[in-house]
Amino acid sequence: MPVNRKFKRIAILTGGGDCPGLNAVIRGVAKPAHDHGLSVLGITDGFEGFVEGKAQELYNRDVSGILATGGTILGSSNKGDPFHWPTRIGDEIQIMDRSKDVLRNYEGWNIDCVIAIGGDGTMHISKKLAEMGINIVGVPKTIDNDLEATDQTFGHDSAVWVVSEALDRLHTTASSHHRVIAVEVMGRYAGWIALNGGLAGGADIILLPEIPFDWEAVYDRVVERNMMGKRFSLVCVAEGAKPIGGEMVIKEKDIKRTDPIQLGGIGEIVSKRIQQSTGLECRYVVLGHLQRGGSPTPFDRILSTKFGTHAIDMAMNKEFGKMVALKGMNIDSVNIEDAISKQKLVTPDHQAVQAARAVGVKFGTWDL
Ligand code: F6P
Repeated sequence: MPVNRKFKRIAILTGGGDCPGLNAVIRGVAKPAHDHGLSVLGITDGFEGFVEGKAQELYNRDVSGILATGGTILGSSNKGDPFHWPTRIGDEIQIMDRSKDVLRNYEGWNIDCVIAIGGDGTMHISKKLAEMGINIVGVPKTIDNDLEATDQTFGHDSAVWVVSEALDRLHTTASSHHRVIAVEVMGRYAGWIALNGGLAGGADIILLPEIPFDWEAVYDRVVERNMMGKRFSLVCVAEGAKPIGGEMVIKEKDIKRTDPIQLGGIGEIVSKRIQQSTGLECRYVVLGHLQRGGSPTPFDRILSTKFGTHAIDMAMNKEFGKMVALKGMNIDSVNIEDAISKQKLVTPDHQAVQAARAVGVKFGTWDL
C-alpha cells in the first residue's frame, strides 16, 4: 500500500472447512466497515478465488440477516493453497506456486487489507502472504479448536452442541436396547470436540488422540457398567483417537487438500471390537459434517461478532500480520506466527479431563 494512502477498501475471505459463525464474522466485519465508509470485497471460495481472481462487492444488503445462518455466503475451500496448487500437466498432477497471482489480484483489486477467516491452514497461508507484503488480519475459525494463541475458536461451541445433543438422543435408545453405542466425532488431531462434547453429553468413555487407549480397559469399563446394572454405554470417540501402539485411522488421502489426510473409521472399529470381545450388542454413529452445518449457538454468534468487529478495528489501526484472539473474557490480538507455532492439543491433566474423571468418565486407561 503506498505510504499515507487513505484506508478505503478491505477484502474478506473464508478459508478451509466451513463452520457455524462464518457469516456472523463476515457481518461483524462488513457492517462497521461500511459505517466507516470503506468498500468491502468478498473473495469467492477462500484462497481459490484469490488465486483465480474471483470476488464480488459486498453491500449492506448482502450481510444483513445472516447472523444466524450456517455456512458462508462467500463459499470456502480446503484445496486452494496458493503455495501448493495442484495443476494437471499431461497425465501428471504437479504442485505449483501461484502466490504471485494472489499478489497481482490484491494489487489489482486495490485492497488495503484482507481479513482472512480460517483455521491453521488459512493462518499458515496468511503468514506467508504477509511476508510477501500483503496486509492481512486473521480471524480464528475451526470446530476443532486446535489453534494456539486463542482460548477458543468460533465454531467449536456449535460443534460441541451437536455432539451433546446427539449423545442425549443416543442415551435413550442405547438404554432402551441395552446397547453400547460408539459416536465418532470430528476434531482432526485434537480431542477438544470429543472431550467437551462427551462431557456435555454424559459419555461414559471418551477416547482422544492425546490419550492413547488400551482396548482391554475399554472392554473392562463397559462390562463393569453392565455388572453394575447400567446395561448400556456411550463411547465418544475422536476421529483421531488411537490405541496404545496403534495409528490413527485414515479414510482417504488427497494431495489437493491443504491437509491431505482425511481421518475416519475409528468409531466403527471401536464398536465392532467391543461387540466381539464382550458379547454386548454395539452400534456406531459417525456425526461427520452435521457438526459443521447449521446455525451457530448464541455463544458462537456473540464470539463471531466480537471477532469480526475487532478485526476491522485491527485493520484500520494497521495491525497487520496479526490474528484476533480470545483471551479469557477479552478479545485481543496476537501475531499470526504465534497462533501457528504449534497445535493446541488436550493435555492429559487438563481441567476438563480431570472433571470428567472425577464424575466417572473413563479414557480407556487403567490408571484412574
Ligand atoms: O478441520 C475441520 C474438520 O471438520 C475436521 O474436524 C475434519 O477432520 C475435517 O475438517 C473434514 O474435512 P472435509 O470437510 O474435507 O471432509
